[in-house]
Amino acid sequence: MTVATVGVHIVDILARPVEHIPEGQDTVLVDQIRLTAAGAAAGTAVDLVKLGNDVVTMGAVGDDELGDFLLAVLAKRGVDVSRLARRTGEQTAASILPIRPDGGRPSFHVPGANLGVTLADLDAETLRGARAVHLGGMDVTFGLGDPAFFGLLDELRAGGALVTLDLLSELPDLLGMARAFLPHVDYVLPNESQALLMTGAADVPAAARALLAEGPRGVLVTLGAEGSLVVTSAGETHVPALKTDVADTTGCGDAYCAGFITGLLHGQDVITAARWGTAAAARVASGLGSDAGLTDLPATLALL
Ligand SMILES: Nc1ncnc2c1ncn2[C@@H]1O[C@H](COP(=O)(O)OP(=O)(O)OP(=O)(O)O)[C@@H](O)[C@H]1O
Ligand SMILES: [Mg+2]
Repeated sequence: MTVATVGVHIVDILARPVEHIPEGQDTVLVDQIRLTAAGAAAGTAVDLVKLGNDVVTMGAVGDDELGDFLLAVLAKRGVDVSRLARRTGEQTAASILPIRPDGGRPSFHVPGANLGVTLADLDAETLRGARAVHLGGMDVTFGLGDPAFFGLLDELRAGGALVTLDLLSELPDLLGMARAFLPHVDYVLPNESQALLMTGAADVPAAARALLAEGPRGVLVTLGAEGSLVVTSAGETHVPALKTDVADTTGCGDAYCAGFITGLLHGQDVITAARWGTAAAARVASGLGSDAGLTDLPATLALL
């Protein structure tokens, strides 16, 4: 089963535990530092491979060392990177994440090459061959908010492909623009603050209903440790998170998307697929980095 991930590619540099930034030039020893392939397309691509899917990813990175690293680690994890654009003279997107002892994750971020992605960077023929297309971070790759891309998504869906949408930022202007994707996707998976910022609604159920009214078949709002709210024309279902020893919640949303897509591709209904997403997210919460803790599909489903 082939899945194409399209959108945001980021190198995450994570350290844990970090309680404060040291004074002056002081050094604080930490337990662990990791570099990972992350972001709503790249991180989800890695998770999708771990869950047993064939995955090709599309978007853009720079020609810097971070780009070398991102391509190498994605390829090592089994993601097809042959369709990923490299931009001369641009910086690859990166985040520095000092992870708090409770798993909280403040960040410093450079959006870099993600900001310039356009339809010209995507391989339409490869997308036509995919069973599922996951759009990761369309608020940040805002150049893809293009009527010609919407036409392609409609064509893919008419041909039977599943199209899913995740967001990345907490920026109201960018999130507002990403609403233009809603009539052209099957499922949208924002987190709580993104759902509220996209709609201006007073609470999550109202936000989910407002997003559903714009055209997708379902809205899955992730609520961190509270789980997720799944809203379709059939009604609203709260899917609780699974109890886990939390090390770092970075990439939990990406893992949720990967588990959800995998469930649907295995013929599961929306609520069961949401549980698969919840299990994948719980795995990722247990380790440092957006792919940590996730190994394979059987071990993930064993949590359920
Ligand atoms: N502390 C936690 N314990 C257990 N599960 C968690 C925890 N935090 C998150 N999750 C799981 O991960 C899912 C997604 O989390 P969250 O809402 O934080 O996503 P997000 O903000 O999109 O994350 P990211 O974009 O960094 O991947 C939740 O629906 C839940 O199932
Ligand atoms: Mg997210």
